[in-house]
Amino acid sequence: MTHPVSYERDGAVAVITIANPPVNALGHAVRQGLWEAIDRFSGDAEAEAALILGEGKLFIGGADISEFGKPPKDPWLPEVVNHIEACEKPVVAAIQGAALGGGLEVALGCHYRVAMKGAKLGLPEVNLGIIPGAGGTQRTPRLIGVKAAVAMIPAGGSLGAEEAVEAGLADKLGEGDPRAAGLDYARALIAEGAGPRRVGALPCPAEDAAALDEARALWKKKARGEVARLAAIDAVEASTRLEIAPGLDEERRIFREMMETSQRAGLIHAFFIERKVAKLPEIEGVAPRDFGKLGVIGGGTMGAGIATAALVRGLDVTLIERDDAAAERATATITKNLDGAVKRGKLSEAGRDAILSDSFRTATDYAALFEADLAIEAVFEDMGVKREVFTTLDKIMKPGAILATNTSYLDVNEIAEATSRPEDVIGLHFFSPAHVMKLLEVVVADKTANDVTATAFALAKKLGKVAVRAGVCDGFIGNRILSAYRAAADRMVLAGASPYAVDRAVKAFGWPMGPYEMGDLAGLDIGYATRQRKAATRDPRDVVPTWADELYHLGRLGQKTGRGYYIYEEGKRGGSEDPEVEALVAKARDDAGVTPRDFTEAEIQRRYMAALVNEAARVLEEGIARRPLDVDVTFLYGYGFPRWRGGPMHWADEAGLAGLLEDIKSYATEDDFFWRPAPLLERLVAESATFASLNDKG
Ligand code: 3HC
Repeated sequence: MTHPVSYERDGAVAVITIANPPVNALGHAVRQGLWEAIDRFSGDAEAEAALILGEGKLFIGGADISEFGKPPKDPWLPEVVNHIEACEKPVVAAIQGAALGGGLEVALGCHYRVAMKGAKLGLPEVNLGIIPGAGGTQRTPRLIGVKAAVAMIPAGGSLGAEEAVEAGLADKLGEGDPRAAGLDYARALIAEGAGPRRVGALPCPAEDAAALDEARALWKKKARGEVARLAAIDAVEASTRLEIAPGLDEERRIFREMMETSQRAGLIHAFFIERKVAKLPEIEGVAPRDFGKLGVIGGGTMGAGIATAALVRGLDVTLIERDDAAAERATATITKNLDGAVKRGKLSEAGRDAILSDSFRTATDYAALFEADLAIEAVFEDMGVKREVFTTLDKIMKPGAILATNTSYLDVNEIAEATSRPEDVIGLHFFSPAHVMKLLEVVVADKTANDVTATAFALAKKLGKVAVRAGVCDGFIGNRILSAYRAAADRMVLAGASPYAVDRAVKAFGWPMGPYEMGDLAGLDIGYATRQRKAATRDPRDVVPTWADELYHLGRLGQKTGRGYYIYEEGKRGGSEDPEVEALVAKARDDAGVTPRDFTEAEIQRRYMAALVNEAARVLEEGIARRPLDVDVTFLYGYGFPRWRGGPMHWADEAGLAGLLEDIKSYATEDDFFWRPAPLLERLVAESATFASLNDKG
């Protein structure tokens, strides 16, 4: 095996190159190699300066995350960085692409830094639930000051090359080949007779109480429940009062503390699964079909959102509506969405105008789709209507074009049967608002061709979305599981919990919203329609939230009518609790002969999550979600599940499957219809296995 760190001399410059694809992560062999290369440079009488380079598109992507949680191996990264800094001859880093986390820390251990145009210098550690652990929190503020350091480090942020030079994080801006730029710099330093210049030897940065307070207030609010961002601020604060050696010790202490948290485990799980989710054997190496020209059928909120997402990312869209008035309304919605993108700085005004004049058009005749590569239907959720649309698409669209439905629960197999080419049919379930939400459930029907699935994943990537493969069932992965924990919430309310207490408990767990706030946001008519749809096949033992039906009949449809579970007042953020809702619920309890009892916050959270996990286990068993990680990604990106908990399946493993199963069995003593343990959960417990053990399935 070739060593990932090489040493060669180019005249008087020792060139130390890290070649550890794909991101030159600082795994054990690299740390060892860097240490030895610095020793060799120190002893090399011919070498007057050293240049550290990263081979490939970036300098160094950071510590090797896959080593986290395993026993540490000498030399540790902080020692390597100190070793570089202590070198008696000047060491230069040439940074191209990115120097992230430990990568930037290595660069800060070097005495001089040239940042190539387009490079990013950042400390993203907090996104993984840790803090920079190799001097980043001590050396960065020594170079750029406390204010700039707390703007960057708790955000997991970065500076572009120009900004880095301006702020003092790098010394020089380079252009072209990093090796050439680094050699030039090193030779100039030799010519000047420059010696080592150690960041660690700089004085402590001035204390800036206002900047620290502001950063703490910001992150307490913005990242509710997360510990690492605040801990990173503490570490920066330490740099203002401690010399470098005790400062590094303090950083190390906090770093170790963060390493032990379950948040670190959750965030790193999230990092790896969002990269693994698109790795499916049936699409590996399969070339996607073209998808540059899209057709969108239906210009309501969903269709307009999908069209916006596609237009912003440079695709061509033809939108079909039933008449000119509807087409105009759709155009107005899309224009408003694009204006929003301009306001947020995601799109220039000229870009918006070009999109509207060149890349977007509406039509009332499906014939306008004859050239489209892929059509996404976003019409009314009714099987008859959808089948009609697909029969028409089948006639109009060119051979090889993809016919996709944005249904959120209907049977995609049945829709596919309305065409003569079911292999070209797939479900693309976007989440509302489609130009904002990152999740795309790719619903693979029985006959969907693999290259159609591959195209759906490529499209998601192009749109900046995260695709998850799902099988066909009512609600697919996300909404199917949602209906189970929603039902658990309704059962708790019937048994005595206030809906407001349920919302509070769920939010205290880390969800962005409780089920009843969410109901108000979506509209109570949606839940009502779902219950009506399921009424014919409902088991008599099922619990129906009659109070929700009553709210619907009272015209209290949630936020859009100013009243639902909560009362919404003009100009006031959020809703206030409504005693009339409590009265409706109390009546429902009376009617059902229930004597209400109290629920603690912990019990509410436990039942909510137990219902989620139990249904997820069924979804896995049925192959609707192929791996637990598919459920985790669905919930992280589609339902706002707190990222620091890793995802619901990761949470379940951490919480302990045996305990969850035991609780489900104890809930079943009250209601053995709803609380039926999923066979997969029972099997995993019997085998003392975890959901994670199923993640390596292809
Ligand atoms: N350690 C181990 N593996 C890593 C890694 C790292 N730091 N960074 C990326 N990888 C792996 C990915 O898992 C992926 O593996 P796969 O091909 O098997 O799925 C592969 O490298 C390529 O990664 P991406 O698909 O993300 O490649 P991109 O080109 O899109 O992005 C990147 C490159 C911007 C470097 C991105 O990978 C990234 O953001 N990485 C994480 C950076 C980071 O958080 N660094 C800090 C680490 S913690 C640290 O340094 C602690 C220190 O302070 C002590």
